[in-house]
Amino acid sequence: MKTIGVIGAGQMGAGIAQVAAQAGYRVLVSDVDLARAEAGKAGIAKRLARAVEKEQIGADDADLALGRIAPQGDYAAFGDADLIVEAATEREAVKRAIFAEAGKVLAPHAILATNTSSIPITRLAQASPDPARFMGVHFFNPVPVMKPIELIRGLATSDATVAAVEAFAQSLGKTVVHANDAPGFIVNRVLIPMLNEAIFALGEGVATIRDIDAAVSLGLNHPMGPLTLADFIGLDTCLEIARVLHEGTGDPKFRPAPLLVKYVEAGWLGRKTKRGFYDYSGAEPVPTR
Ligand code: CAA
Repeated sequence: MKTIGVIGAGQMGAGIAQVAAQAGYRVLVSDVDLARAEAGKAGIAKRLARAVEKEQIGADDADLALGRIAPQGDYAAFGDADLIVEAATEREAVKRAIFAEAGKVLAPHAILATNTSSIPITRLAQASPDPARFMGVHFFNPVPVMKPIELIRGLATSDATVAAVEAFAQSLGKTVVHANDAPGFIVNRVLIPMLNEAIFALGEGVATIRDIDAAVSLGLNHPMGPLTLADFIGLDTCLEIARVLHEGTGDPKFRPAPLLVKYVEAGWLGRKTKRGFYDYSGAEPVPTR
C-alpha cells in the first residue's frame, strides 16, 4: 500500500491521517467540503509542531509527514488510494451515502474500511461495491497515542483483505486485535455500559459529576473519569453506540441513560461543543450539574 484515503477530518479522521502520514503513506483526506479537510490538516500541523517542541520527532520528519497529507474537496483523487478508511459521523445513513459515492472511484484492487465504533460490518458492507474488500478498522482516540486497532471482518470479507489491513495496522506501530462482528466489538461492548452507568448514577443523584469522576479514575486507576471520557468521545457518539448495543442485543441492560439522551437533545455533546457534563468555555472544565 502506498496511498491511503481518509474520509472525515474530525478528531478520528485527522488522527488516522496523521499516523498514516508519519508512517510514510501518502494520505488523501476529505470531509464535507475542502475547508473542513484543510482545517483537519491544520490541526495535524499543530499536533506535529507540539511533538517537535517536545523533541519527540524531528522538524524534518514533521514537515515530511505534513507534506504527505493532501486535503480534498471531493473523491475524484481517491481512485489512487489502495485503502480508503471512512471515519465520518457515527450514523449509518451518513456512512452508507459515503460508501455509495466513494465506491464509484474505488480502484479494483483497493479496500474500503470503516472506523465505525459499533455498527455491524456485514450490514454496512452491503452499501459498498464489493463486500469481500470491506471490513472494520477501529482506532481509538487520541489515535496517535492509543495503541490498539480492532479489526472486524464481515461475513463476506476475504482473507486477503484482512491480511492487507492487518499489515497496514502493524505498519503504524499499533497492536492489532481481532473482534467478531458483534455489537460494540470488544472495547465499546465493555466501555459504553460503564460510561452509561456513570450517567445513570449521576441522574439518580448517587454523587456529583466531580465525585463520580474522581472516584472512578482514582479507584480504578483510569486516566480519565467516565463523565470526562464521555465528553471526550462525544455524547452523541456514546448515545449512538449505546443504541447499537441495545438494539443489536435486544438486552434492556444496554438501554441508554435518560440523562444522556437529554444532553444530546440539548446539543450538549461534550468537548466538541464546549459543553457536555463539563463546561469547557473557561480555562478549566466546570461541572454543569
Ligand atoms: N492527539 C494527539 N496526542 C495527544 C492528544 C491528542 N488529541 N491528547 C493528548 N495527547 C498526547 C500528548 O501529546 C501527550 O504525549 P506525550 O506524553 O508523548 O508528551 C500524551 O498524550 C499525554 O497527554 P497530556 O499529558 O496532555 O494529558 P494526559 O496525561 O491527561 O493524557 C490522554 C491525555 C492520553 C487523552 C489520557 O487522558 C487518556 O489516555 N485518556 C483515556 C483515553 C481513552 O480512553 N480513549 C479511548 C476512548 S474510546 C474510543 O476511542 C473508542 C470509541 O469508539 C468510542
